[in-house]
Amino acid sequence: MENIFEDKNLLGNRRTNNIFKDKNPLDHRFLPDKLLHRDQQIREIAKCWVDVLGGVTPSNVTLYGKTGTGKTAASQFAGEQLSEVADKEDVFVKVEYIRCTDFTTEYQVISRLCNRLGRDVPNRGWTKAEVINTFDDIFKRPRIDKGALHLIVILDEIDILLNKDGDGILYTLTRTENVSVLLISNYLDFKNMIKSRVNSSLNDKEIVFPPYGADQLLDILSERAKLSFHDNVLEDDVIPLCSAMAAKEEGDARYALDLLKNAGELAFDEFSEKVTGDHVKRAKERIEHSKVSEILSTLPFQQQRVLEAILTLTKQKEEITSGKLYEAYTEISKKDAVTYRRIFDFITELELLGIISTKTISRGRGKGRTNIIKLQCDETLLETALYTI
Ligand SMILES: Nc1ncnc2c1ncn2[C@@H]1O[C@H](COP(=O)(O)OP(=O)(O)O)[C@@H](O)[C@H]1O
Ligand SMILES: [Mg+2]
Repeated sequence: MENIFEDKNLLGNRRTNNIFKDKNPLDHRFLPDKLLHRDQQIREIAKCWVDVLGGVTPSNVTLYGKTGTGKTAASQFAGEQLSEVADKEDVFVKVEYIRCTDFTTEYQVISRLCNRLGRDVPNRGWTKAEVINTFDDIFKRPRIDKGALHLIVILDEIDILLNKDGDGILYTLTRTENVSVLLISNYLDFKNMIKSRVNSSLNDKEIVFPPYGADQLLDILSERAKLSFHDNVLEDDVIPLCSAMAAKEEGDARYALDLLKNAGELAFDEFSEKVTGDHVKRAKERIEHSKVSEILSTLPFQQQRVLEAILTLTKQKEEITSGKLYEAYTEISKKDAVTYRRIFDFITELELLGIISTKTISRGRGKGRTNIIKLQCDETLLETALYTI
């Protein structure tokens, strides 16, 4: 076999790119120089954090908002700006960003922080108390040359950690002197996962990130397009179309960027000179398909069966309560079925992944409350994905 990288079909991909000048600015992790339409939120973060420049531990902050509303970008942007001024004024401040999908337990977060702050802690093997002591020690014994360290910890996607490891991490961080946290959550009700003893010491300022409207997305995409596409390759309707579609998807800037990037890739693959509205429409299908099958492939077998049961009930146009779901699920799984209690964990996880949503409704006096489950992805896509993995 000849070398795969010399394959004729692949060589096509090495031709000069007539569409993209630089794909990086369309990547989720790219942090632009300016964040449009987020002045107010960034200003509110700054209002809390500015105290630290005077040596006072700033109040804790929580950012709420749906996916793609700029929470991660705004927190990192504010962090960079603060570090810049702290350096200039010679104040000893560190802002540490932690994505809780990568660091999923209290142990992992604290040891990561210790390592970042110059104390060696192994990834495993110590007791939690040993790690926490090492962390405390950083603040108890300030470095003589620079005075006391103030630390701001950004915990992004905090719901994942809380769901997996409980609220110990917040207990520890909020009780350490000179430490303040900024929590980011996609869910308004994530504080249900925090016990009251922690909630009271959190005493946070809450900042809401509303979904972007189509006009705002249009501005955001236009800026990125200038950095990533060659001049005049986007037909006029491309950016407005991506913006309108993403505005419908709950004002998600990430989705808007994905659409634009995928549309450009399709145009390139097809040797097209321009990116057109048709490319955008096909990009939408491509993204949705890959999203659903990607999520599905990571789910344990029984959890896939739960989803299959939800799909079946959805097709029957049934209102899905947890009871009804369990019935349908045992029907499918037969003797391998997990317990009714376990199903609730599955439901929470599926909701965190954004495939389903739940709503608690009250059935009226004396009848208690019921959870209603709803599918949040396309039925056909889910069906194809379920039966092809
Ligand atoms: N106001 C904005 N201006 C420019 N780019 C933005 C803005 N808001 C979001 N983005 C971009 O959209 C993508 C998603 O934003 P992100 O901060 O990850 O959203 P969230 O954390 O709320 O899910 C990122 O690539 C980000 O750079
Ligand atoms: Mg984010």
